[in-house]
Formats: sequence, structure tokens, C-alpha cells
Amino acid sequence: MEVNCISEGASEPFIPGGHIASGWTTGDTGDAEYIQDPLIPDFSSKPYEIYCGDARETIRRLKAGGTQFDCVVTSPPYFNQRMYGDDPREIGRESGNGGVDSFISNLVSIFRKIPVRPWASLWVNLGDKRSANGALMGVPSLFVVAMQDAGFFLKDDVVWAKEVVPVGGRSIGHCQVEPAPGRLNGNGWEPFFRFVADPKRAWSDTSAVRIPRDDDHFFHQGTGTPIEQHRYSTAMECVTSLEGRNLSNVWFVGNSREGNGHFAAYPKELVERPIAMTCPEYLVEDGGEIKPRVRIVEPTEYSEGPGRGKRAMGQYSLAEPKVGDGQLTPEEQKQEEKRIENLREKSGRMDFARGYTPRYPKPKGWTLMDNPVVGPGIVFDPFGGNGTTGHVAVLLGRRFVGIDLYQDNAERMKGRCERAYASLRTERGVN
Ligand SMILES: C[S@@+](CC[C@H](N)C(=O)[O-])C[C@H]1O[C@@H](n2cnc3c(N)ncnc32)[C@H](O)[C@@H]1O
Repeated sequence: MEVNCISEGASEPFIPGGHIASGWTTGDTGDAEYIQDPLIPDFSSKPYEIYCGDARETIRRLKAGGTQFDCVVTSPPYFNQRMYGDDPREIGRESGNGGVDSFISNLVSIFRKIPVRPWASLWVNLGDKRSANGALMGVPSLFVVAMQDAGFFLKDDVVWAKEVVPVGGRSIGHCQVEPAPGRLNGNGWEPFFRFVADPKRAWSDTSAVRIPRDDDHFFHQGTGTPIEQHRYSTAMECVTSLEGRNLSNVWFVGNSREGNGHFAAYPKELVERPIAMTCPEYLVEDGGEIKPRVRIVEPTEYSEGPGRGKRAMGQYSLAEPKVGDGQLTPEEQKQEEKRIENLREKSGRMDFARGYTPRYPKPKGWTLMDNPVVGPGIVFDPFGGNGTTGHVAVLLGRRFVGIDLYQDNAERMKGRCERAYASLRTERGVN
């Protein structure tokens, strides 16, 4: 299971992002920098390829080979957080006065050079760092601004919540305990950003990650029969509903217990949704071009019980008690107030517009169904570590390319992809 390390060749010179605003590289190999030592992933007998080497050098060679990725999901090393080995090419060790600026420029420069399809998304989980005086450096915010300056668009910003504390005081979940005099424990959440090259062309299948609706409020129109809520994939830990509510951007996901010797592994539940939602399951050939199939969704009326489909503006937020003060007993008054409070709680969605009729998105199939399939989309992780992204990508039927600077990580990543591929074959009944 050995993965040969790519050691030959110097890493490319650092190119600062600055205010270039030229966006993402899109597979153009005309540049001399991109024509030597091509690497072409071999997907002939397996849906993954793992490389051991420096991300910059390996990306350059992948680009030279003409690979284009559909989705990138990664957690780069954080700034000055830990050392993974002794290779001076390791990202995150930038030091000196401008250390954090160099770190951010290096990351942006790497991401800009990843060859991608025009519909690609790039998901980055990046934590913060504190200065010697305990103040936060704001690394994730600085990184977002640098990415925007480099031409990326921030399409989603997810809060990865590890521990949440409701007003009742009992926490849900766990995060690393921190002796932090005079401040809060800063380990409760981390950001997870989704950048795109083109917000209008970015491929998304939000149906894949919708969440189940409340059974009390989701009936077939005019009947009391609940709408069946199909899951997107049995391989996912996250519970989904193809026809459910649109997923919001705070995800409560417990820390990973699958580090297997790697100190900074993220949990697989964290990367399931990005892969399911932003890496096309099928690429097809259409008039000499590669295109992703797109899910066809039809907005369909449902009722919240027979005869309650239509909404009038203000029905909820402007609801008033039916009987005026003084005509009700204190008990009836209390019940009426509760009824009005319940109605007003619904106002955000229900009072959207005059005559608003609630609809849910009913998946009706996919575009380009008669076109020949080229293969599943390719997920890429340039800082693959223990291989969580690869594991999930393969389980969800996508292809995967991963890189890590260190051989032991690359081997673990390869092992996890192999095991995921074995489960996928079993699940699909293929030898
Ligand atoms: C935060 S970890 C990734 C963890 C991964 N998401 C997981 O769940 O296992 C960052 C990884 O980046 C790798 N790395 C650091 N510098 C690199 C470079 N220049 N090229 C490629 N990989 C690098 C480290 O070896 C480390 O495994």
C-alpha cells in the first residue's frame, strides 16, 4: 500500500494573491510553468488516487496532466498550530513579523492554482490563532478577504459548532477544555467556508442535504397523509430529506474520533454535506463538452393539514385575539395569548406575501439523462491528512484525488479510500 513520495523538483515560487482578482485557474495549460512532468490520476480500477508530496508541486503537475476538479474540500494546517513532520515545505510554519500574511498568501496562492471546472466549489475549514497577549489574530477573516481579493466569491459560511450552550445552561456536545482567564473558551466552533469561481454557475444540489420537516406540518395537499421523506444516501451519517427544509448554515457536529494517529482529523459528518451538495454525481458528454447532470426540482404545493394551504399576508404576524380584553376569564385569556403567540411564531415563513402558498421542492429527475456518462465528479483535498475527505467522497460514489506531504498520512489516506471503495462495492452489489 506504499505511496511513492514526489520529492523531485522545487516547489514553485510564491506568488502573492494581492488584488489580482483573476479568480480560479480553469485548466489552461498554455503557461510554460504548467507543461512539465504531468501527473494523470489513474481511475481505471479504482475511484481514487493519492499522492505524497508538496501540494504546490503536485497541483502544478496535475494541472499539466489536464485534470480538472469539480469540488475541493480541505482543512489546511492552521497558522503556527502544530508541526506534522520536519519537511520545510510544510504550510503553517511561516514565521517572523509577516508570518500570518505569508501563511494566508501561501494558502490563497495554492487554492488559485487548483485546476477546476467552472461549476466548482472550494470548501475550507480554517481555525484562528491567538497572539502572545491572548488576542485573536482573526486568521479566518483575513483569509476570506484575501480570497475575495484574489477573485473568489464566498457563497456559504458555515459555523461548525462542536459544543452549543442553550440558555438553559446544559451544554450539548463537547469541545476541548481551555484554561482561559478573563475570556470564553474559544474552542466551541470553527468556520467552514465555501468559495466559488462563479456564483451563478456553481453546481449545487441542495435537495441532497435538506433536513426532514416536522411530521405535524407536512401533509399531501388536502389530506392528512404525511409526505414520505426520502433520504439522499444511506451512506451518509447526516440525516437528510430530499423534499425537506433547506439546510441552514450552523452545523452541530461532534469532534472526530477517527484520527488514527493524525492530530487534526476533521469528522466525516462535516464533509458529507459539502460533497453531497457541491460535487456532481454524474458528469456526461454533451456535444463534445463535459457537463454535470442537474437535478430537476418542481415546487409543489403541500398543506399543513386539509384545507390550510393558502396563506394571506399578515395572517400570523398581525394576528389579534378574537375577543377583546375583559370578556374572557383569566384562564381563557391565557389560552388566547398562547394561541396568538403560536401563530406569530410561524410568521417568518408563512407571512411572506399576499396569497403565499407554501411549496416544497419535489425532485423530478435529472437533466441530460440520455447522454453518455463520463464518470462521477472529482473531489480534491490538497492537504488530505488522514483521508477523511477521500473516505466520504468514495463512499458517496465520487472520485477523489488527495495529497499529503508525509508518506504515513498518504498511506493512511489510501487505506481509508480502499476500505470506503470496498463498502461502496458491497452496498451496490458489485465485485
Ligand atoms: C489539518 S491537517 C488535514 C486533516 C484532514 N482534514 C483529516 O481529516 O485528516 C493538514 C495536513 O496538511 C499536510 N500538509 C502540510 N503542508 C503541506 C504541503 N506543503 N503539501 C501537502 N500537504 C501538506 C499535513 O501533513 C497535514 O496532514
